[in-house]
This record gives sequence, C-alpha cells and structure tokens, in this order.
Amino acid sequence: MPARPIIIDCDPGQDDAIALFLAMASPDELNILGVTAVAGNVPLPLTERNVRMMCELAGREDIPVFAGCAKPMVRDSITAEYIHGETGIDGIDVFEPRTVLQDKHAVDFIVETLLAHDEVTLIPTGPLTNIATAFEKNAEVIQKVKEIVVMGGAMREGGNRTPSAEFNIMADPQAADIVLNCGRPVTLIGLDVTHKVLSTEERVARIGQLGNSVANATVGMLSFFHRYDTEKYSSQGTPLHDPCTIAYLLQPDLFKTKLCNVAVETESELTIGHTAVDFWHVTGRPKNVNWAYDVDADGFYELLTERLSRFPL
Ligand code: RIB
Ligand code: CA
Repeated sequence: MPARPIIIDCDPGQDDAIALFLAMASPDELNILGVTAVAGNVPLPLTERNVRMMCELAGREDIPVFAGCAKPMVRDSITAEYIHGETGIDGIDVFEPRTVLQDKHAVDFIVETLLAHDEVTLIPTGPLTNIATAFEKNAEVIQKVKEIVVMGGAMREGGNRTPSAEFNIMADPQAADIVLNCGRPVTLIGLDVTHKVLSTEERVARIGQLGNSVANATVGMLSFFHRYDTEKYSSQGTPLHDPCTIAYLLQPDLFKTKLCNVAVETESELTIGHTAVDFWHVTGRPKNVNWAYDVDADGFYELLTERLSRFPL
C-alpha cells in the first residue's frame, strides 16, 4: 500500500516535536509532503526554527519546512511559554539548523499542494490558523482534502487553558470553527484522550534505553515538558497530546471514536474556544466530527517506543 501523503501543521512545542519524530520514523506509511509552522505555543519565528531543528535531528532534512501565520484570524495571540519554556522546546540544546526555511508562505504551500495532489491528509497539532486561512484563500482545495486529524478540544476533561477551553482551539476559535465545519472527514483528538497517554517514569525510561539521539532528545524534552502538568494535575506523567494524531493514522484501532456534532464557542468571553461535543446527539446538529474519546495508552507507548527505536544510534 503506498504511503499516505500528509502535511503536518504544528507549533513545536515538545509534544509537536515528538509527533514529528513519530511521523518521520514511519516513511512506509506516511509520505510527509511538507511541515508547516504556525504561531501557537511560542511565536512563529521559534516554531518554524523548532520544526527545522527536528527535521535535522531526525536526519530528514529532505522535508520542506514553511512558516505560516504569525497571529490568529481574529483574536489576540496567546502563547504557552509557561508550559513549553521560552524556546518552545526546553529540555534540549537549541541550535540553528542547517535546514533552510522555504520562501513560500505555508498557506500558499498548503493551497498549491492540495491543488496538485489528490487525497492529502492534513494533521494540525497547533492552532488551526494556517489550515483555515488556506480554506478561506481558495475554497476549491477543501474537496481535495482526504481527511483532517486534529489535536484539540475537550469534553469531559474540561479545558487546559481555561476551565472550558483547550489551548489549540482557544488560540484561534474562528479558525477551528472553519476547519471543523469544512465538510471533509475531521477526526478530533482532544484532552479526553490525550490525558490518558501519560509519559510515566517507566515509559520514559524505556525510551531512554533506546540509546539513539532522537530518543535521547525525546527524553530531554519530556524531562522539561512533564513538570507543569504533573504538578497541576498531580499526575504520574505529562499528556503526550500531539503524537496521538500520528498514532491514530498508524494504528487507528488504538483509539475509540464516535461521529458527533462538535461546535466551537467563538464569542463568549467566559467560554471562548470551548468545544461543545454533542456525544448523545441531543441537538440534532450535523455530525461533523469523528470525536476520539478513548485510547489504549500502553499500545500507544508500544508504538511510539518501537518507532523511535528505528532511528540510527
Ligand atoms: O492543549 C494541548 C495542545 O496545545 C498541544 O498541541 C500543545 O502542543 C499545544 O499546542
Ligand atoms: Ca501543538
């Protein structure tokens, strides 16, 4: 079976970085046409630099990297240095990558790539600004999308940026509204799932035993990334949000999903960015999203660890 053509749109972010490693370790299944950076956890100049760093660390300097939108469509920017550190990927030594940034804007790359290919899968793991802007720029491309696998939102888990909103959706709620209602198959993997895939000591130790530089970078980033959530939730590890999107493509049976209506709050000061997941179909609104609500966490870490083991020592 040919590898699935994909575009990863992200805001590294330690968990975005590990999602990139997981995807780059899986060339038989995933053909990464390009990686697009968006402002999110940290400003755009850092997220795009961090993407290029990960490509270099993984020996995948062949993957073109593009910078996209520096701010959300409507609201003011929000960032998350308090979680990810000032660099966005605290926990490893930062360097200026050899991989050059492409001149083309990420939105133009997304539009042109969708026009040129059939069946491209989009994997946004940050605010949805780039994807939504591409859809607004040329609505023709929407029909060319095979499916979209998003990290974002929350239902029973509540929010992580506010009591009712998860960061990616809240950072650009108008963009999220556009993408979730674009009419193409959208799978939304939110905190209800990602808070079940915790990077416990034992799981991190197994990755550390792999001994290659990518696994070591993963452990380094996790050693920083886990401190905020473990304190906030008194949990045994940090949720590995973004790699869930890649794992879903590689091994969908690790996840339980259900077609539901998901609506985004774009107005209320109190609940902006909230994802109203109509799990029991009480509203009669169209079932626009494949909502992920459970995951085999051990199976997820088996997959992640095995794929990280494929990088050279
Ligand atoms: O809420 C978690 C999400 O927000 C993750 O994608 C993390 O990287 C941040 O972008
Ligand atoms: Ca992210």
